Amino acid sequence: MGFYSEDILSEIRSSADIVDVISQYVSLQKRGDNYVGLCPFHSEKTPSFHVSAEKQLFYCFGCGAGGNVFTFLMKKENINFPEAVRLLADRLNINLPPNEYERGTSREFRQRREQLRLNKMASEYYHNVLLNTRDGKRGLEYLKKRGITLETIERFRLGYAPPLWDGLIKHFQSMGVDANTLAKLGLAVAKKNASGFYDRFRDRIIFPIEDAAKNVVGFGGRIIGPGEPKYLNSPETPVFSKGENLYAISMIKKDPALDVIIVEGYMDCISLQQSGFTQTVATLGTALTPMQAKLLKNYTGGVILAYDTDSAGQAATMRGMEILAREGLNVRVLRLAEEKDPDEFIRKKGREAFERQLSEALYYIDYKLYLAKNDTDITAPEGKIKYIKKAVEVLCEIENKVEREVYLQKISSELNIPAQALKDEIIKKRFPDNGFKYKKSPTRDNNKEFSKISPITGAYKAERLIIKLFVENEAVREKIAENLTPSYFLNERTRKIAGALFEMLRSQKPIEPDEIFNHLDQDASSELSGIIMTNSEFREDGMIDSLVKKIKENYLKHAIKQVREQIQKAEAVGEREETIILLNTYQKLKSQMDELKANLNAEKGGV
Ligand code: GTP
Ligand code: MN
Repeated sequence: MGFYSEDILSEIRSSADIVDVISQYVSLQKRGDNYVGLCPFHSEKTPSFHVSAEKQLFYCFGCGAGGNVFTFLMKKENINFPEAVRLLADRLNINLPPNEYERGTSREFRQRREQLRLNKMASEYYHNVLLNTRDGKRGLEYLKKRGITLETIERFRLGYAPPLWDGLIKHFQSMGVDANTLAKLGLAVAKKNASGFYDRFRDRIIFPIEDAAKNVVGFGGRIIGPGEPKYLNSPETPVFSKGENLYAISMIKKDPALDVIIVEGYMDCISLQQSGFTQTVATLGTALTPMQAKLLKNYTGGVILAYDTDSAGQAATMRGMEILAREGLNVRVLRLAEEKDPDEFIRKKGREAFERQLSEALYYIDYKLYLAKNDTDITAPEGKIKYIKKAVEVLCEIENKVEREVYLQKISSELNIPAQALKDEIIKKRFPDNGFKYKKSPTRDNNKEFSKISPITGAYKAERLIIKLFVENEAVREKIAENLTPSYFLNERTRKIAGALFEMLRSQKPIEPDEIFNHLDQDASSELSGIIMTNSEFREDGMIDSLVKKIKENYLKHAIKQVREQIQKAEAVGEREETIILLNTYQKLKSQMDELKANLNAEKGGV
């Protein structure tokens, strides 16, 4: 990991506040000395993800993920250590020496950076064509006709692809970028029956798509005249995935209290933003995914779905709201009247009318009930029964007990039927097996890392505690290192941590919690964060001794057991020499154990 000098690393570390960095991904709330939020590494409804400003580390009590600011970026951005350093340095405007810049960054990382640079250039090319060329005039006129202002064109960097087969290709050629490279970005397409390439986007308004970090990752293109398809989007490329991005995500504010409006089309999004609804994003022509919901969760606590009013839009609303609600977002649904989409609505009826619609958006459960009621006549007994059936289905899906109760009362009084009758129906549906249903804990299930933390023995606790004491008290470090070697630690992670710590002590490196992480892999980093973030009350004298003994005792117990098994095997196959050596080892371990026990008893005042 030693690609960067300690000086630079410590400069970056001291300028980067872990709370600031993580806040860009997770919405954090201050609680006591720490900040807490929903863990970005596993799915959860109540926050168990802690960030300590004082210790400059994070730890999730739910899944065990943890580490320092670099570890966080490595995990979250799926990059290696030098890349995380680079990323942070870039964000902090700290210059890394150029030779260190490339060293250690992977080929993929450099390639990605280059591809993003080319995308950005393409975006500027289209933008320039729209504003400053004859070809762009048609585009400008079209946008004007749709009420889009120049300011909005600037803000969204809208562009125009000229009606040429090689406008973009030629533009890049002059800068030494070949068409093959453009094809990898979905900007050029290989000809079918001949060699060579042609521009993917021709004679279309261009909508550059940015990711959360403002990188141009892809494009959408709308045809002006008649023709098919109406919209053409970038294909999936190494830097673009429709299911992971949202149009205009880079333009909205992170604020748990501000609801985000989700629309289906680029034009809806732009039109709403232009009218002042600046917390609007759009999906990219595909169904909403859990990844997009997670992305939104970093920005807000609530969303409002404002999809098209046609049946496709309605179906997408139903699917979308489930996905969003499952991510723990407060989901409401907008109901437009006869207009086909938000853009048309706002252009016809204006800003205030849309504002009113927003305030009347239904919480998604109410929306489901509204739909259930919409196509039945509940004044007739038949319709009433039909509605009850549907309502019970809706209620069944509500996981939160209190919430379920509220809706139960609501429907009960609305339809004038006893709440108990509804309750019976719900129980029958939810728990078909006599009210008993085995439910797997989602946190444990979804998270493999959880199972790796196995606090099986008291010794494991002792291993953790002694590491904590070592990190936090300079005075006891020598004593611990004298009495233990890493091999005494049976847990793989604590063993790694001990190894790093003892080595740092030996080479007289400063032992700061934050520093240690740079000597650990991700698993060990997580473990260490957990150790540091977990409070331990006891700290009396003699504690070190008893911890050391506990750890040694556990080690010896395991070692003895292991050797005994080896002896049995060796004997079984008649390996006499081997058996003798093992017996020797066995005796040694045994006497060490006896000695340890004698000391233990002596201290306790026993025999
Ligand atoms: P306008 O007609 O310009 O108002 O478009 P819109 O923003 O209202 O979009 P529309 O509701 O027609 O479609 C919603 C989204 O679906 C668009 O923004 C595109 O992302 C996508 N989309 C629409 N038509 C097509 C198409 O023909 N092909 C593909 N691949 N995507 C499309
Ligand atoms: Mn539209």
